[in-house]
Amino acid sequence: WPFHAPYIKAINDLKRERGAVILAHNYMTPEIFHCVADVAGDSLQLAIEATKADADIIVQCGVHFMAETSKLLNPEKTVLIPDLRAGCSLASSITGADVRALRETYPGVPIVAYVNTSADVKAEIDICCTSSNAVAVVESLGADRVIFLPDEYLAAYVRSQTDVEIITWKGHCEVHERFTGAELKAYRDADPAIRIIAHPECPPDVLAEADFTGSTAKLIDWVKSERPDKVMMVTECSMADNVAAETPDVTFVRPCNLCPHMKRITLPKILDSLVNMREEVTIDPEIATRARASVQRMIDLKT
Ligand code: 13P
Ligand code: SF4
Repeated sequence: WPFHAPYIKAINDLKRERGAVILAHNYMTPEIFHCVADVAGDSLQLAIEATKADADIIVQCGVHFMAETSKLLNPEKTVLIPDLRAGCSLASSITGADVRALRETYPGVPIVAYVNTSADVKAEIDICCTSSNAVAVVESLGADRVIFLPDEYLAAYVRSQTDVEIITWKGHCEVHERFTGAELKAYRDADPAIRIIAHPECPPDVLAEADFTGSTAKLIDWVKSERPDKVMMVTECSMADNVAAETPDVTFVRPCNLCPHMKRITLPKILDSLVNMREEVTIDPEIATRARASVQRMIDLKT
């Protein structure tokens, strides 16, 4: 990618000069994921790495809730996101006021929220989870009934893995909800040897067609360890590009659904972020204290 090279050099030089660390989600494009990220991973890995960051500046290459999570865990550090508009359809599906209303409707029922939520929502819940520890977090509460929000499909996946009764919300990921079971079945009928692996934000009929379900990091690990001849990763499609660069022996079949929010993060914007120290992520201190406790409870579980 010759046109990326000057940006990559400038970002890496400035990163060192400023004492910054770049945390990148698995959905970043390959030139970000492979060439400027110090740490790349799924939401849980990035949250844990944020607690270990000893740089003064964190540049979050991901969406806004991820940058907020880094700020919650590093209140003294400057957390930058290269484009403040990088949102998430799950995070925008619910507000703190919605959670307070749910608490009134279901008094005493513990509330688990997916990390794909705003700090306002995290401030109102009992504990946070990610797609890689959702079942363990729900079961850790020792309750018969749990409110699990905002992702209806991740909630359905958790319900399929536990005896705990799950009450949920109607949030959806705008990327994963586009896949259909019929589409996957057509790929499998055309090539019965194909392995299909899917993120749990997909609808239940999609997961029913999958050979394996897991968080973005677990999907990557699966490909690296199983080394299938042909695989379809049913998730945001930059991830297949990133893994393909490391597994040339595997053929990726890709119906491509991109996350428009993740794709707002580009090399020029990362450079601008480091040059001009923007956009800084801030959280109201009173909300931050309560939201941090929900994230910390999840990390302390060491799931
Ligand atoms: P992971 O935690 O699996 O990386 O998922 C985050 C996300 O936004 C998936 O769409
Ligand atoms: Fe949100 Fe879906 Fe984009 Fe992930 S892929 S950030 S869940 S909209």
